[in-house]
Amino acid sequence: MSRLEQLITELTTEHTEQLKKVEDFKKRMEEGLTDELIEEILNFLKTEVENHALKEEEDLINEIEKVAPDFDTEAIIFGHNTLREAIEDLEATYEEYKKGKASEEKLKKFINQVFIILKDHFIEEENFLFPDLKKYDIEI
Ligand SMILES: [Fe+2]
Ligand SMILES: [Fe+2]
Repeated sequence: MSRLEQLITELTTEHTEQLKKVEDFKKRMEEGLTDELIEEILNFLKTEVENHALKEEEDLINEIEKVAPDFDTEAIIFGHNTLREAIEDLEATYEEYKKGKASEEKLKKFINQVFIILKDHFIEEENFLFPDLKKYDIEI
């Protein structure tokens, strides 16, 4: 297995693990949105999800540049920045919520928004980016 193929396998496994955690967070949110749960979600987004994004921006792009120098890697970073902005918006809303300036409904909406963006991003990578990269890999 090439390094690129190995990386794609690892990244896909991380997607599955992270989406499982998202489903678990959603279930717990239905039972009640506690500060502890919100902080756990934010921590997950800022560590696990961010580390996954960095692995793609550093390790994956590094491998892509070796096998396909013409490949458009900007799209990968663009997708991550969209996600990062949504996480920043969520953090800002959580700060408002703590001051009593944002409702629980609004906060839930922002959390769900981040989860949707995350899931869509993973699906896009698995359905388009990764298969495209595997094609290059075979040609090399
Ligand atoms: Fe990504
Ligand atoms: Fe990914």
